[in-house]
Amino acid sequence: MKPTVRSPVEPAAVDAAGRRPVGRVHLVGAGPGDAELLTLRAARLLAAADVVVHDHLVGPGVLDLIKPGAERIYVGKERSRHSLPQDEINALLVRLARAGRDVVRLKGGDPFIFGRGGEELQVLAAEGIAFEVVPGVTAACGVACFAGIPLTHRDCAQAVLFVTGHLKVGGDGLDWAALARPRQTVVIYMGLSELPSICAQLLAHGAPATRAAAVVQQGTLPPQRVVTGTLADLPGRVADAGLQSPCLVIVGEVVRLRDELAWFEATRAAAVPR
Ligand SMILES: C[S@@+](CC[C@H](N)C(=O)[O-])C[C@H]1O[C@@H](n2cnc3c(N)ncnc32)[C@H](O)[C@@H]1O
Repeated sequence: MKPTVRSPVEPAAVDAAGRRPVGRVHLVGAGPGDAELLTLRAARLLAAADVVVHDHLVGPGVLDLIKPGAERIYVGKERSRHSLPQDEINALLVRLARAGRDVVRLKGGDPFIFGRGGEELQVLAAEGIAFEVVPGVTAACGVACFAGIPLTHRDCAQAVLFVTGHLKVGGDGLDWAALARPRQTVVIYMGLSELPSICAQLLAHGAPATRAAAVVQQGTLPPQRVVTGTLADLPGRVADAGLQSPCLVIVGEVVRLRDELAWFEATRAAAVPR
């Protein structure tokens, strides 16, 4: 990851009439890692912004698209190591926009999926600051594609659910009975550290021990690793493999299609240019 620059908020220059331009915040999805999965609009905004406020899970190739000389502010958000508390991130965005800066707030994946993008925009809306949202490829979609796991398939999955595995101590609020149902795919973000308890809950709520499941580490990027198994044996396999965050958990019979469809590893092994 490129070095980041922290500096006090500099107000934008005044125009010929002595007016300071009004700032705007572009909340932009950076996709799951591979920079080529970025939208055209995201690439264009990164090439034009004065300042980019970015999170931990933004691919290095995406940061390379930032305009030379633009300010980069890293605000972190690794689990249990928040570099800047959320209310300070909100206040920073307000300050930058008030100073007339053209701000890109860059978030991994899609900003409205487990990214607190909605909360940041609520603060901007309350402060009367203009904003727009640029969607990104969320990890579930990007990572599943690169793992060769179609999230739906007519033979075995008519629905797909995205849930967070970042479970609160003493009651997580997830509807385990609904998640354990057949003929669907459940994608769990931030589920690595809770994987044993996630599998145990699904089994306790009626999912068969043979239900297929996978964990994908650093999906869409060259170091991508995929461990597959069943609800019964996946936690042990993942521990043996030593997978590290960021990881996505995919539960459902669609995981078995990877045996035929694992194109990314095949492309990498054959050194086929993409
Ligand atoms: C805070 S959530 C942000 C999700 C993001 N807004 C999105 O739409 O993908 C971060 C989690 O997304 C998942 N994730 C993001 N990028 C990933 C990747 N390249 N490979 C595997 N999992 C990823 C992991 O579960 C990670 O802990």
